[in-house]
Amino acid sequence: MGEMDESELCVTECTRCPALVDSRSRIVNGTGPEDADMLFVGEGPGAQEDSGGEPFVGRSGTVLDDGLRTVGLERQDIRITNCVRCRPPENRDPHKDELANCRGYLEREIELLDPDVIVTLGKVPSEHLLGRSVAVTKEAGTVEDVRIEGTPRRLLICVHPAATLYDRSQEDTFEATLERAAELAGVEESDGGQTRLDGF
Ligand code: URA
Repeated sequence: MGEMDESELCVTECTRCPALVDSRSRIVNGTGPEDADMLFVGEGPGAQEDSGGEPFVGRSGTVLDDGLRTVGLERQDIRITNCVRCRPPENRDPHKDELANCRGYLEREIELLDPDVIVTLGKVPSEHLLGRSVAVTKEAGTVEDVRIEGTPRRLLICVHPAATLYDRSQEDTFEATLERAAELAGVEESDGGQTRLDGF
């Protein structure tokens, strides 16, 4: 294992994946409250995340932020992380061994956060956490119970935000899934059409 920060949510040093060590300029850790009700899990950092040091700050991030706002959430209400924390070369999918190398960090983040719902953004995180092949477009919006490190977790399959950029017909699916995530985490619609987080 690499080294973690005090909260054990952030990896400060890791050299387990030679190809990713070569292609990254930094380790991109999860962001957001350490007690968030929702954990969004992406695939891995892209170029903008690698330079910005935060998940989903590029075009996909803008789509995600807009979608969250539509269902009454803000980025700071949720935690966002990735299956791998270092940018794969040429933005290729992370390899099996790289996913496995980073798995412990993700599991620890899930355990410490203990979210009401884990939202997997796209095929890679959905398959990684469910341990089976997933037809994301078909299965988006589906909630599944899955054991992660022995603990039952509620997982919601979602299309990757970037999918809506390639295929506009996915926008509705994306938004409906975020709506479902908000419901599962107890976000309620108030009279003014505004939404709020339970207990806030
Ligand atoms: N896509 C991802 O899967 N993760 C990011 O952090 C950015 C884009």
